Amino acid sequence: MENFEFYNPTRLVFGKGMIAKLGELIPADRRVMITFGGGSVKRNGIYDQVKAAMTGHDFIEFWGIEPNPAVETLRKAIDLGKAEKIDFLLAVGGGSVIDGTKLIAAGMLYDGDAWDLVLKRDYSDGIPFGTVLTLPATGSEMNNGAVISRQESQEKYDFYTNYPVFSILDPEATFSLPPKQVSCGLTDTFIHVLEQYLTTCGQSRIMDRWAEGILQTIIEITPKIKKDQCDYDLMADFMMAATMGLNGFVAMGVTQDWVTHMIGHELTALHGITHGATLAIVCPGTMKVLREQKGDKILQYGERVWGITEGSRDERIDAAIDRTEQFFRSLGLNTRLGEEQIGEETIAEIERRFNARHATYGEAHNVNGAVARRILEACR
Ligand code: NZQ
Ligand code: ZN
Repeated sequence: MENFEFYNPTRLVFGKGMIAKLGELIPADRRVMITFGGGSVKRNGIYDQVKAAMTGHDFIEFWGIEPNPAVETLRKAIDLGKAEKIDFLLAVGGGSVIDGTKLIAAGMLYDGDAWDLVLKRDYSDGIPFGTVLTLPATGSEMNNGAVISRQESQEKYDFYTNYPVFSILDPEATFSLPPKQVSCGLTDTFIHVLEQYLTTCGQSRIMDRWAEGILQTIIEITPKIKKDQCDYDLMADFMMAATMGLNGFVAMGVTQDWVTHMIGHELTALHGITHGATLAIVCPGTMKVLREQKGDKILQYGERVWGITEGSRDERIDAAIDRTEQFFRSLGLNTRLGEEQIGEETIAEIERRFNARHATYGEAHNVNGAVARRILEACR
């Protein structure tokens, strides 16, 4: 196990009816701006619950943070927040609203343009914020990351700032999710764990078992959720899996990959494909191209997560990659670039972008533009 520090200050408030606690969680003397997406919370009753819980608090609303939150929108929220002297933010929505709110929180205490903050990558000044999560996937409710897009230049980058002070997770808030978002959320959760697990063997037994536990849970609940996404206990496990999958918990003392994510962000930036859907396409390609380097860990994953024990080393690696791709297909997601009508032009652009930024992604720091090209070609 490598040396590490673990710090996660977010208070998790979990369960049915817990949105009612908002009033206690936000200090009464704060002037609050509540941030929302496109309106799903008005249709599923979450907005009414939030408003009721905020009775007596001084608050304004900002609507319209889109999926893959755009700096163009977030600048408007920062301007409004500054004009209204806001000193606390409450994000109500999925990863996009929460990520966007992280940039707003930082932008409130920054004089320059919000995109400069994204390019700085790390900025830990900012006003405090809490969240009400409506979509399990990103882990943004309990981490300090945000992924921000700039529509003007079709760019999308990760950015690191403060953690939410608290996050309320009510599984009932997920019952209204469109099935495609459920599929993408399950896939995103699964691949977050793979990014922190499918690297090097023998670094930590405890991290391996925790990671495998989350992967096995996702595999177990997926077909059941597809039959009934209004089952409280199933969605509770999904929510916890997503939060624990990317809050630093399975990353302690182990190396991390994130190549699938870095390529996936480019597919979203260039083609607008939903985040989880990009990962379902890229992940099998990453496993194929890096099968030598990751081979021992893929064998462990195949055996412990999928029960693959028969065949030669190569056959077992093939089987593990195949089972992973079939899992994403069972969720109704595409797993090939061709199915999204994406070809050489995009591959060349991603190779060019990785080379321009001197990319050295992955646990071995060896994924540059040329390797990204090979991965994308394996996803055709
Ligand atoms: O905008 P509204 O109307 O609320 O609708 C949203 C949106 O259209 C809808 N939705 C959310 N909760 C719902 C619901 N519809 C019905 N019922 C509900 N309960 O779902 C749509 C997608 O929402 P979005 O927030 O975009 O999805 P997700 O949570 O998957 O977030 C994706 C963003 O997070 C980033 C991604 O790159 C992407 O930009 N990520 C953030 C990470 C982080 N902060 O650590 C890590 C991830 O790897 C990821 O990159
Ligand atoms: Zn992700």
